[in-house]
This record gives sequence, C-alpha cells and structure tokens, in this order.
Amino acid sequence: MSEDRYLTFALGKGRLANKTLELFEQIGITCEEMKDKNSRKLIFVNEELKLRFFLAKGPDVPTYVEYGAADIGIVGRDTILEENRDVYEVLDLGFGKCRMCVCGPESARELLKHHERIRVASKYPNIAKEYFYNKKHQTVDIIKLNGSVELGPLVELTDVIVDIVETGSTLRENGLEVLEEVCPLSARMIVNPVSMQMETARIKKLVTQLREKCQSKS
Ligand code: PRP
Repeated sequence: MSEDRYLTFALGKGRLANKTLELFEQIGITCEEMKDKNSRKLIFVNEELKLRFFLAKGPDVPTYVEYGAADIGIVGRDTILEENRDVYEVLDLGFGKCRMCVCGPESARELLKHHERIRVASKYPNIAKEYFYNKKHQTVDIIKLNGSVELGPLVELTDVIVDIVETGSTLRENGLEVLEEVCPLSARMIVNPVSMQMETARIKKLVTQLREKCQSKS
C-alpha cells in the first residue's frame, strides 16, 4: 500500500487522549498542534508521518472506526463492549485501568443473591443487560442514566447500579459498595477490518512498537 495514504486515528476525548498522545510520543509519533488546549480545531495532521488525528466523544469512537472514517481508534473497553461495533480490538494499552461493577448499598446484596427482579441504573445498559440476562440469568429492569449514576440507589430510583469503579471514592463518599465485579477495563486500540487488510504492515508495526512500550511499563 502506498505510504501516501493518511492513517486516521479517532481518540476518545479527555484523559485517555492525553495518555495516548504521551504513549505515541514515546515511539516518535508527535502532533504538536494537538497540545494547544485553547484550540477549537477538530482535526490534527502530522504531514511527515502521514497521520491524522481527531478527538471524539468516547461512544462515537467505535462508530467512526466501524465505518472507516477512522482507521484506528483508542477508547475504553467499557465503550467497546457497550457499542458492540464491527471492529478489531488489537491492543490493551494498559492505562485507564478500572472495573465495571454492580454497586449499591450493602442491603442490596441479598436481592442479588436471590435473583430478585431488581432495578438497575447504568450509563451502560447493554453491558448491564449482557451481565444480568446472559451471565447471571437474572431478570432485571434496566434504567439508562447519563451520569452521576450513583444517585440511582441514593434517591431510590434503583436498587443497584452497573458502573465504572476506579479509586472507589465516589462509592465510599456515598455509602455504596462494590457488590459484584462485571469485568476489568482499560484503554484499547481498535482497528477497522478493511484498514487492517489494506494497511497491514503499517498497523502491525505500530501495534508492535506500542506493545513494547506498554509491556516495558507494566
Ligand atoms: C466515573 C464513574 C464513577 C466514577 C468512579 O464517573 O461513572 O461515577 O467515575 O471513579 P472513582 O471510583 O475513582 O470514584 P465520571 O467521573 O466519568 O462522571 P459521571 O458520573 O458524570 O459519568
């Protein structure tokens, strides 16, 4: 494949994007204009390496990659599982480590144990459904929320939540606990299946270089 084609990256906005850029710098991939925090620019180019980067809302990253608008995406495993798009997951970048958990007040433990029909709040209704219906075989009512999901049990909207736990401080400060672990999470690299075929050499080289850096850190 011609080296003239730009390889396009979609990065999930925020902390993950910053960490990704730090990691890319370590293998000689830089994008100076992306570091300007005041810029409202959406697409950044490294002409020399023929790379293009854009920042997107996390849940949109797998969409851009599935449709080939980006060849490569960097996003949390939570988003990959929730969006369930037709993409290849090729690398665990090792940062952004946290857990998807069922959380709630201690009193909800019994409800989970006895497979009661409970209410579950989550920003991740598909992950919650997969866990309760297909893994636990427990019928539940799932209520989608868009943030501060911990409010669910606090204001008696739901019995439990399915949410990300990183340090555990949000739970602790609100009298909630991890009741069950759904799965571990971290930042992942995803690739469009056609791009993987058309740009195999470039993408494999990139994955190998990144993997070496990720492994040397862990
Ligand atoms: C995430 C997550 C938890 C919190 C967990 O929320 O949904 O609420 O972080 O982190 P901790 O275990 O370190 O306390 P985020 O900050 O993304 O905001 P949100 O609640 O509005 O989604």
